[in-house]
Amino acid sequence: MVNTAVIGCGYWGPNLIRNFMTCPETNLLWACDLDPERLNRVLAPFPSVRKTTDVADILEDDQVEAVAIATPVGTHYLLAKAALEKGKHVLLEKPLAASVAQGSELVALAAKKGLRLMCDHTFCYTGAVRKIKQIIDAGELGEILYFDSIRINLGLFQSDVNVIWDLATHDLAIVDFLLPERPIQVSAHGVAHAGNSIENIAYVTLTYPGNLIAHFHVNWLSPVKIRKTLIGGSKKMIEWNDLVPAEKIKVYDRGIELSSTEQDQKSRLMVSYRCGDIHSPQIDGAEALLLVAKEFADCITEKRPPLTDGHSALRVLRVLEAAERSLKADGANVRIEYP
Ligand SMILES: NC(=O)c1ccc[n+]([C@@H]2O[C@H](COP(=O)([O-])OP(=O)(O)OC[C@H]3O[C@@H](n4cnc5c(N)ncnc54)[C@H](O)[C@@H]3O)[C@@H](O)[C@H]2O)c1
Repeated sequence: MVNTAVIGCGYWGPNLIRNFMTCPETNLLWACDLDPERLNRVLAPFPSVRKTTDVADILEDDQVEAVAIATPVGTHYLLAKAALEKGKHVLLEKPLAASVAQGSELVALAAKKGLRLMCDHTFCYTGAVRKIKQIIDAGELGEILYFDSIRINLGLFQSDVNVIWDLATHDLAIVDFLLPERPIQVSAHGVAHAGNSIENIAYVTLTYPGNLIAHFHVNWLSPVKIRKTLIGGSKKMIEWNDLVPAEKIKVYDRGIELSSTEQDQKSRLMVSYRCGDIHSPQIDGAEALLLVAKEFADCITEKRPPLTDGHSALRVLRVLEAAERSLKADGANVRIEYP
């Protein structure tokens, strides 16, 4: 069992607390929040967990091996840095940090100290995404042609990050996990409707080498909640609807076949359509966050990188930062820099 602590008990922190309490591989010793009333309320069902409003209590406790940080994005870097410097393994909420510079420093510090740095890219642990990865890795879809997702609802207007940093982070982590290629450039358009400069609707397009393209539509100002993704392949295609209780994933044996007539070669390609079976694979219904807690504990005890490590989270940050530059440049294509 790995002795853990959770820092930040707002909206998401209580989910981490509940799962660290359930996970057989973790032993939750402490929880911390600046707000003592919130702390009391969240920890009421868990009297064995010690409470503090001062993070130093956790960092000075030698029994604590690992901390999970679920505070606003702007605070991730300093809290994670302090924890790593005190020799604690760190699970950071998404996105890893507020900039590539901060994220790079955390990745380097964790490596120098021989500690695990993991990012809670929760969707990579869902049964749906794990099943889609199996299907892609088995070559069932053929060449991946496009990834197209809609993630919209009447969402919480954040005061520190825009909708791309909040919602598109999920999609960027998913494509990083699913696709072997890395995007080379990004174009992002967005608008702010709440009287500030924080975009609440955005359209983000990633360009990859070859013919692969990815597009994400994210919005906090939608009257309806939609969580839908299409993945087009040269052999088959996937529809993933995350909001339905059953048959979340459908695999369509649909597509096109190109041929040319003998007389008219090259100049006219004939497109014929393939409309085969639709198949809905069984997916594991385990709570993704429980698997996150388990992976955090396992990567510590097994001394190996976690599935969603600092490097993958840093690649997501590189795209986010480039998307931010594109937003400010009216959707211009911005190259994504990898070292
Ligand atoms: N993985 C997911 O699907 C998912 C979902 C929602 C939020 N998140 C992430 O979780 C993080 C927190 O988001 P939230 O919506 O819970 O925010 P929130 O504002 O609801 O909660 C943040 C909490 O952190 C506390 N806090 C701030 N600074 C602190 C400090 N120095 N020490 C102790 N406590 C401190 C605040 O008092 C607050 O209670 C963000 O990084 C967000 O992106 C992830």
